[in-house]
Amino acid sequence: MANETLLVVDDNEALREGLSEMLSFEGFTVLTSENGLEALRKMQIVSPDLIISDITMPQMDGYSFFSAVRSRPEWVTIPFIFLTARAEREDVLTGKNMGAEDYLVKPLSREELVTAVRARLARSRQLEMAQLQQAYEASLTALANAIDLRDRYTRGHVERVTSYAMTIAACMEWPEWRVEQIRFGAILHDIGKIHIRETTLFKETSLTEEEWEEIKRHPINGAEMIKDIPYLSHAVPIVRHHHERWDGNGYPDRLAGEKIPLEARIVAVADAFDAMTTERPYSPRRDLEDAYEEVLKCSGKQYDPGVVTAFQTAWESGQLHKIKATWK
Ligand SMILES: [Fe+2]
Ligand SMILES: [Fe+2]
Repeated sequence: MANETLLVVDDNEALREGLSEMLSFEGFTVLTSENGLEALRKMQIVSPDLIISDITMPQMDGYSFFSAVRSRPEWVTIPFIFLTARAEREDVLTGKNMGAEDYLVKPLSREELVTAVRARLARSRQLEMAQLQQAYEASLTALANAIDLRDRYTRGHVERVTSYAMTIAACMEWPEWRVEQIRFGAILHDIGKIHIRETTLFKETSLTEEEWEEIKRHPINGAEMIKDIPYLSHAVPIVRHHHERWDGNGYPDRLAGEKIPLEARIVAVADAFDAMTTERPYSPRRDLEDAYEEVLKCSGKQYDPGVVTAFQTAWESGQLHKIKATWK
């Protein structure tokens, strides 16, 4: 990525300028400071994407500077590279023990410098993406759980359906990235239930035609809620079609067979399996074996036979039992 901001800290002016020139030439924006104290002052105004710092400097040396940077939550993830002279090998050890990402030995070539900087920046972007993904997942799960609570689902439905669905997908020998694409759709499958009135949701007597229609709208409502969020584009078909049936008797679009998105066919099995094995106000909990047999029995009618085969593989591997035990 072009134009990332790097902070070079060194008391040797010639070296500082040399590094700055090399890095500017590569398209980076470069800030320079002659010691840790001055660098910290600059960082109050601009937070760099990466820091390269000498160790021995007047006023505030590299180690103290590093500790000061790491003590601030907003700076804790900035990659930090120490610069050390060849005679200072023990410095390398100290730096690494403190947790610096890398060190470079002076004098260094342009190639060495640029390679290290690019590698550290790439790694840092990767970590940021992973953290972002985890943050999304945690917030979506919290939201989905809050909605499920209205429906008096027992705790863990969202997590179990997600784990079951991803396990079944993995048993279809999908590559990891494709399995991963099921995650958010599984988490959010029932998000549209937020539109169902409490009087309908908590009704103890049988539902009227109108109330039943209201419940059956939750896949459409859910898909509508997330359709404009690019990050959730893979979730939309799962949310919309998780109640379709292989024989075409499901809802909302009465799709049949392979017309139903495969991811939704997988979540349908995961969702039904969890519903059967969970205590509900309107139906008693079945034991796992019983629910397993029921899924097999409905293969080719309610469920995609291919998905049921993968479900069977997952069952035989013991993974479904493990998931159930984790989220009891
Ligand atoms: Fe649903
Ligand atoms: Fe569900």
